Amino acid sequence: MGRDHGRESSAFDAVAEAAGGESAGAGHGALDVVMEGLRRLEYRGYDSAGVAVISEQGIESRKKAGKLSNLVGELAADPLPRSMTGIGHTRWATHGGPTDQNAHPHLADEGRLALIHNGIIENYAELKAELTDQGLTFVSDTDTEVAAGLLGHLYRTLRDQGAEGDLLTRALQQACQRLEGAFTLLAIHEDQPGTVVAGRRNSPLVVGLGEGENFLGSDVSGFIDFTRRAVELGQDQIVTITPDDVVISDFYGTPAEGTEFHVDWDAAAAEKGGFASFMEKEIHDQPDAVGQTLLGRSDTAGNLVLDELRIDESILRSVDKIVVLACGTSAYAGQVAKYAIEHWCRIPTEVELSHEFRYRDPIVNEKTLVVAISQSGETMDTLMAVRYAREQGAKVVAICNTNGSTIPRESDAVLYTHAGPEIAVASTKAFLAQITAAYLLGLYLAQLRGNKYRDEIADVMADLAAIPAKIQTILDNADTIKALGADMANAKSVLFLGRHVGFPVAMEGALKLKELAYIHAEGFAAGELKHGPIALIEQGQPVVVVMPSQSARDSLHAKVVSNVQEIRARGAITIVIAEEGDTSVEAYSEHVFYVPASPTLLAPLLTTVPLQIFALALASAKGYDVDQPRNLAKSVTVE
Ligand code: M6R
Repeated sequence: MGRDHGRESSAFDAVAEAAGGESAGAGHGALDVVMEGLRRLEYRGYDSAGVAVISEQGIESRKKAGKLSNLVGELAADPLPRSMTGIGHTRWATHGGPTDQNAHPHLADEGRLALIHNGIIENYAELKAELTDQGLTFVSDTDTEVAAGLLGHLYRTLRDQGAEGDLLTRALQQACQRLEGAFTLLAIHEDQPGTVVAGRRNSPLVVGLGEGENFLGSDVSGFIDFTRRAVELGQDQIVTITPDDVVISDFYGTPAEGTEFHVDWDAAAAEKGGFASFMEKEIHDQPDAVGQTLLGRSDTAGNLVLDELRIDESILRSVDKIVVLACGTSAYAGQVAKYAIEHWCRIPTEVELSHEFRYRDPIVNEKTLVVAISQSGETMDTLMAVRYAREQGAKVVAICNTNGSTIPRESDAVLYTHAGPEIAVASTKAFLAQITAAYLLGLYLAQLRGNKYRDEIADVMADLAAIPAKIQTILDNADTIKALGADMANAKSVLFLGRHVGFPVAMEGALKLKELAYIHAEGFAAGELKHGPIALIEQGQPVVVVMPSQSARDSLHAKVVSNVQEIRARGAITIVIAEEGDTSVEAYSEHVFYVPASPTLLAPLLTTVPLQIFALALASAKGYDVDQPRNLAKSVTVE
């Protein structure tokens, strides 16, 4: 690599670096670059980790079950030689448990080739049988080792046939033609020091462009310390990086091109910045996340302008249904947005979990606008739903936080949230930014279709502009909710109630607690209580209630107050999140946490924040790792 660490090529969850060789200069070497990339990518999967480098002795590899720190210990005990080319991987197990053996890299061609993989290879059993017949043996339970075996076998065949040139790239092209499923594969071979090859189908991979060095990563955080120039790859592409070159082709060797983009955040944005965890930092990033997402959306005449929304206006005017597709927290953002979009635009809006969508024969056509919400832009369930919707003729707008990711690339248009990198597995700032972006979309459609006057839109925009400061007020006065969370560390179950826009907020509050504190938590529509869930209430059961504003529509507030009375009468401990000035709830609550006043539809941007802080405090009091909760991964790139 250039600069202070020599000339290298390396690849990262998958990370790699390729550099020119020892003669090119001193520096960290590929291993340091790869380990730094893995540290930044560990949030994507953390049940085992491994690296491989090409040294003068050939391929050398270390891998270890457990978090990256275990691999660091292994490398300290058994160091790797200096190298200019390396690959590394952190794993979230699919085939085979999280053991040393199953960790990546996997070796092939008698240990001369190393390969790492994200995704699932669906025809691995058939390929394994075929390769076993040819005399190959396998030591792990993984589909990845089969991919390595196949690549090694194809490489040897080319070599035995006397083929010349870049055999590793040719072998990977052939291997990718044989593989079914979703995969990103990265490989190095000791015959080709200074080269890393990669292939992708339905799984993320970006290239980082350096000077005298190039990188590969599952996302740009893998190489953000070294470059902010990145290239997004298309579907079914192969890329070969060397210190000075990046060559892209399809699986059949036809030359192809990627799209270069600039990463608009730097390494500091992906650091904890003095907070105890990424999650805490990201909760504190929320005023900025909302503010940045709102930035530059109006012209001087006060019209809402969404430059990125490159869908013909006549199509947007003719939309007769909106379907929001998302998973997890992003789906709750969609559920919040549904209230606003239907109210502002009068367009029927459905919110569907992406993984359910295409299996229910949905009614989707050219007049349907699909809004796909995804922080990562790589959630496979959502990607597949997007593809299905487009096949049915729908136009798809992605709301996404990650530049260069697949879902925006495969959508008709994208509205980026500008929350900055979200590293903690539990989504926080992305949620608020998604609601903000979906509201912008709703207002834009209302403007376009004439449902709202310009001054009405300007009023909502002014209310939105006031939200960041209000979030900051909550953050500055969070001690009571933190203390409450810590006090509840021994709770076996916490229920959450909300109504109207408070309902998805309640479900999001419950999800945060499940993910982080591993306790039973459920969000209910407050009105649904009497239809069953009230049977769960017993003496001492904590219930968090998201109270609608007193100025919310009809008698919503009074009805939720009645719900609070009903559960208190049955022994619940009530923790109420209410609008400042709403003293009416004090008589019925053990604990009240006040948030600043806001219009009803904007309240989720505020009421969610204490629930995030509550979950963080409770999980921290239990001593859990809030950034990397068990069994989870940040980006769910398998179906
Ligand atoms: O990247 P995406 O927004 O598509 O991810 C969707 C969900 O996997 C994600 O929101 C998940 O539920 C989070 N762990 C929630 O905190």
